[in-house]
Amino acid sequence: MIATQVRPAGETAKGPVAFATVQATLNKHCVMCHSPTPTHRGYPAPPGGVVFDTPEHIAEFAPRIFERAVASHGMPLGDETGMTDNERATLGAWIKAGAKTQ
Ligand code: HEC
Repeated sequence: MIATQVRPAGETAKGPVAFATVQATLNKHCVMCHSPTPTHRGYPAPPGGVVFDTPEHIAEFAPRIFERAVASHGMPLGDETGMTDNERATLGAWIKAGAKTQ
């Protein structure tokens, strides 16, 4: 049994990553701060002007999402929501496959 298997870009153990999965992950871990109207009480406006409210915005910020939540664990800030490595890997796989929104 090989511990680290190399999978094709955009695929996880469960196959290609659906955009709906990406949206659900961002909604769970990011959108309370990164929305035009954040629900997180510490943020009256989206930090850095970064919003994940539409597929277009999510795709536009994909390289930064990779940088901050996949390559590093800088986001979610303070890991308030307890994002798992599996969730980070799922975002990474989607971005590597071209960040397709449909
Ligand atoms: C608790 C609030 C909070 C949550 C939740 C949060 N962020 Fe942030 N985010 C911030 C703040 C504050 C900044 C601005 C300071 C900074 O860049 O570190 C920021 C900045 C950013 C930036 C812009 C800076 C850059 O490197 O381009 C990106 C991209 C980002 N966050 C992605 C994410 C992602 C992806 C998630 C979810 C996995 C997330 N954030 C969750 C508060 C949050």
